[in-house]
Amino acid sequence: MQNSVKNRQYWLRTTSLVVLLSFFALLTATQFNSGKAVFSARNHVAALNAPDDPVRFSGDTMIVNTTTLGKGIQGFAGNVPVEVYILNGKVVKVTALANNETPGFFQQAIRILDSWTGLTPKQGVAKKVDAVSGATYSSDAIVANVRAALEYADKADVKALRERGASQSSAQDAQKYGFKKINVMSMEDLPAGFSFFTGDSGHGLLLCSGDRQRSNAMTIGWGALGTLWGRRPAVTVYVAEKRYTREFMDKYEYFTIMHFPDNKVVDYMGTHSGRDGDKAQALGLHTLYTENGTPYYAEADLVIECRVMYGGEQFDPKHYRSGVPRKQYENFPAGIHYQYIGEVVNAWKK
Ligand SMILES: Cc1cc2nc3c(=O)[nH]c(=O)nc-3n(C[C@H](O)[C@H](O)[C@H](O)COP(=O)(O)O)c2cc1C
Repeated sequence: MQNSVKNRQYWLRTTSLVVLLSFFALLTATQFNSGKAVFSARNHVAALNAPDDPVRFSGDTMIVNTTTLGKGIQGFAGNVPVEVYILNGKVVKVTALANNETPGFFQQAIRILDSWTGLTPKQGVAKKVDAVSGATYSSDAIVANVRAALEYADKADVKALRERGASQSSAQDAQKYGFKKINVMSMEDLPAGFSFFTGDSGHGLLLCSGDRQRSNAMTIGWGALGTLWGRRPAVTVYVAEKRYTREFMDKYEYFTIMHFPDNKVVDYMGTHSGRDGDKAQALGLHTLYTENGTPYYAEADLVIECRVMYGGEQFDPKHYRSGVPRKQYENFPAGIHYQYIGEVVNAWKK
């Protein structure tokens, strides 16, 4: 009886040992594709939060992330997601994201990341990229991920994706800095005691125009908020002929007006010209963009975005009906003002 128990324990131990040894042998064999056994530590990197949306934009560059797209692609130790950067329809860069591949092998595998640079998505999909000998699992997984990204990019409606991306990121930016959408038609939504245009005695508002590449702002003291052409909330601003901002107002479809809690900003913007340097940068302001791409500053506490309905008309001396405008322009080196009327399309306050 004792002997049979011993025998059973012996066989149990031997079988477990054989199973364990076979498992290690298998593991070692799969790791031996470079001829060197590697049991080094894995890249213990936290898995990325898989973005549901594989595409995001940084300026004009479209970035395709394969965390979700490449879920079914396995390297040696799980997924090997990448990001493919595409600018003007061509790949500019491929980067590898966090993974659990063996670091020694992975360092060899990433040598192929440059293989797609300069290709269109279609050319990239068709391109044959050989596996890196010694790091076959990882490099094959990289190739399959890049191909998944490029197939996605090839079929994607880039314009629609960009618009969606811009609207998502602009909403996130506004939220991050504490802006809440308001109804500009409701006086309750405007800050208590807020005098919309303050005139020469007050500090004024900022008027800003441009796009993601270039923008400029200046202080305005004159203007009006009212309704025009239906119950349409409208803002009228007046920009003197020689202001740098006028060049922007004549070019762009949208503008923002902003209220600032900080008079320093308003004073500086009203006494310096954007022709002499970037005023926002000098003040350390953070430029954000609405979903229409209209610039505004994160530091403002009220932002009203308008779409120009009527603009670029200079006051004509033949229509002066009193001495007021005549006197104003008698000695006014900045030149006669131009009028711009914008429909309010969005408003936010903190
Ligand atoms: C309180 C205040 C209110 C101003 N209001 C106006 C205005 O309504 N229209 C205008 O053309 N200039 C106005 N200015 C002058 C411009 O803000 C100023 O000339 C600015 O430097 C122009 O900048 P820019 O050349 O970058 O456009 C105001 C300036 C101050 C200080």
